[in-house]
Amino acid sequence: MRDFALLIDVWYRQNKRNLPWRDTQNAYHIWLSEVILQQTRVDQGKNYYLKFIKNFPTIKDLALAPEDEVLKLWQGLGYYSRARNLHTAAKQILSNHDGHFPSNYSDIRQLKGVGDYTAAAIASFAFDLPHAVVDGNVFRVLSRYYNEDTPIDTTLGKKLFTEYANNLINKKDPASFNQAIMELGALVCTPKKAVCNTCPLNDSCQGLRANRVYELPVKSKKTKTRNRFFHYIYSEQNILLQKRTQKDIWENMYEFPLVEVEKQLTPSATKNVIEKTLGLIIEPSPIAEYKHILSHQHIFATFWKLKLNKPMDTSNYIQCNHSDLAEYAIPRLIDRFLEQVNSSSF
Ligand code: ADE
Repeated sequence: MRDFALLIDVWYRQNKRNLPWRDTQNAYHIWLSEVILQQTRVDQGKNYYLKFIKNFPTIKDLALAPEDEVLKLWQGLGYYSRARNLHTAAKQILSNHDGHFPSNYSDIRQLKGVGDYTAAAIASFAFDLPHAVVDGNVFRVLSRYYNEDTPIDTTLGKKLFTEYANNLINKKDPASFNQAIMELGALVCTPKKAVCNTCPLNDSCQGLRANRVYELPVKSKKTKTRNRFFHYIYSEQNILLQKRTQKDIWENMYEFPLVEVEKQLTPSATKNVIEKTLGLIIEPSPIAEYKHILSHQHIFATFWKLKLNKPMDTSNYIQCNHSDLAEYAIPRLIDRFLEQVNSSSF
């Protein structure tokens, strides 16, 4: 439907965020931005993007850099295999394509770590090729727009939504179409608080008409594993505890002061968030990290030390010493940490 492309294009021109990778057709830069954005949010991603292109201005610079240097720049983003793939792909480009980024979809798709989404993003943004991107934003926008129940995490669903997107794409300007549909998903057609009243598609959105916006998209797996990022504050002398009262894991158990975040941030950004949220002051580097696996959740837990000798209000917390801790029901995750503390292995 041509209206769809036109409507989102007009909306995009008026509402798009100015992001550094949107001002370029440099395939290498676009690729970097897409790999980084699979790992983090736009605001944090910007800093990593600028850091990467500053340190490795060309594909050749990246390819010839020692792996340690690449991993160091990636530090804080997690999932380090993405950084290793980036490095391997740069070497592939140097040896197989003479250092020039390949300019057709199938060659792009063959680069290490580049899947359908990233290949379509690079092909369209850098080379104006009519390949529709299908990421989480696009699944959400299209499932709602068509009131489409086919689960997005199935082969059939992926094929169907890719077809929808490729039928809608503006072949004269595929790059803007792809940016626009993702931006709409990021800013308007959001998972929980969609702003349908300002959506350029609200007249023809079937999901809105059927009042099913929050039922879509559908996933086939009832309980997907969920990644959660917990930041705990450990106070060595006077241990601070709070009770978990929410309908959630570990209900009614006791834990250290906690800040949960949506995505992993850099240590300094995390420190700021923790201090702002809790009003506690902490040491600049975390002291321990664990991946704690539950049946449907993976908890990535980071432990931070409370800064001593700083005046802080800790009156909201239960305060106890190590021997009193036995009185409280404590999640295994916290126990693991305490075992390590008690054996003073750090
Ligand atoms: N998320 C993934 N790719 C993006 C892009 N190019 N711009 C903004 N957010 C994105």
